Amino acid sequence: MKLGVVVLAAGKGKRMRSRLPKVLHQLAGRPLLGHVLDTARAIGNTRVCVVYGHGGELVRRTLADYDCTWVEQVQQLGTGHAVMQALPRMQGMDRILVLYGDVPLIQPGTLQTLMDEAAHTDLGLLTAMLGDPTGYGRIVRDGGGRVLRNVEHKDATEAELEIEEINTGFMIADRARMDDWLSRIDNRNTQREYYLTDVIALASRDGVEIATSQPQFLEEVCGINDRVQLAAQERFLQRRQAEALMRDGVTLADPARLDVRGRLYAESDVSIDVNVVIEGEVHLGEGASIGPNCLLRECDIGRGTQVLANCIIEHSSVGSGARIGPFSRLRPEVILADHVHVGNFVEIKKSQVGEGSKVNHLTYVGDARIGRGVNVGAGTITCDYDGANKHLTVIGDDAFIGSNTSLVAPVDIGAGATIGAGSVVCREAPAGKLTLTRAEQVTFDGWRRPSKK
Ligand code: UD1
Ligand code: CA
Repeated sequence: MKLGVVVLAAGKGKRMRSRLPKVLHQLAGRPLLGHVLDTARAIGNTRVCVVYGHGGELVRRTLADYDCTWVEQVQQLGTGHAVMQALPRMQGMDRILVLYGDVPLIQPGTLQTLMDEAAHTDLGLLTAMLGDPTGYGRIVRDGGGRVLRNVEHKDATEAELEIEEINTGFMIADRARMDDWLSRIDNRNTQREYYLTDVIALASRDGVEIATSQPQFLEEVCGINDRVQLAAQERFLQRRQAEALMRDGVTLADPARLDVRGRLYAESDVSIDVNVVIEGEVHLGEGASIGPNCLLRECDIGRGTQVLANCIIEHSSVGSGARIGPFSRLRPEVILADHVHVGNFVEIKKSQVGEGSKVNHLTYVGDARIGRGVNVGAGTITCDYDGANKHLTVIGDDAFIGSNTSLVAPVDIGAGATIGAGSVVCREAPAGKLTLTRAEQVTFDGWRRPSKK
């Protein structure tokens, strides 16, 4: 069975009050449409066609990584008209599944159930029971429970408005029949639109049994029209992600105060304190702990490593048994080996630090290769930038860098070297020796402090 997925995404999204097309607004760090395309991909064996309109170029560019075809719906003449634009791209498909770019939380499992329920017939609808069905199309059934048609809220009679079963819009249909039904719909309704939902009555009149199924959660079928709904969906999704993590053995101090905007892979007994933000792909090894107020973006934290409060770690990897923070910043391309300690107000960029080395206080390390067992004293700065180019600092194993040292790159500190505090090191410091640059200390015996006249 070849499945064609049509994603409707041409609507303006006026109520977002935004320059950005609605389907590019982000939910858990991904555009709304990205969620839908991921779901389409998860169903497998599909050809996907996105019907775009408003802000089309930007939408296409933003989602260029997805394997799908794009058709423009120049004028938004209704959902039926939108699907018609996509059908020429669906030749050779057996069935058509209709998804929506602004309904991001629809689950592959729910769509699979819909497809299974409709497997024996030519039309299937995802419907839902809503306490307040205002605004939605209502599903009209006959006395025997067979679906007859859909009536839009704006076209419904008083009696029809009482119906609680609504049309979610999600639909699966035989492709050839969809072609035929859509060629027969018109726009004689209150909104002067070509309604996709009019295929329901045509199918029923053609004697087609119309299958229905329901979503697992109502949130799956909630569209996003404004930023209030966007925020509500964000909280719902975050809650679900947090629950999945907890079930996988992660301790969360407060599931409502973790935001995962990407993917978090956590081994067992990881614990995460409050107000942590995860972006991109993050791996946390067994027993790692993340303190409060940390931002982790595209990074790998080893087993048993402690990240203390208020750290920012991006595009970096930290070994196991390490201790980072509080208040440490690891910028891109930092590789810390096992048991490294990085302390408060330390910034590290594009550097490697060997096993067991310590950079504990008030330090900038950039473009450096630091060996094992090195102690970098408080206030040490690698002067990696000469105003035009970046240069490398190499520090050998077991070196000891005294506090407040400036290492003017390119510079080499030999293994086991000791650098006296306050030095400005511009040339190679030999291995195993004490090197320091320091004006001699002088004391003036007869000196008197000036006093006020
Ligand atoms: C539609 C259904 C309604 C259902 C509701 C569920 C129809 C006629 N009605 O109503 O039965 O209860 O969804 O939310 O289908 N779109 C286009 N091009 C268009 C028109 C719409 O791409 O010309 C897209 C929109 O961007 C949106 C979706 O289709 O993502 C739904 O369109 P909208 O106008 O919001 O339909 P509803 O009135 O909500
Ligand atoms: Ca809508």
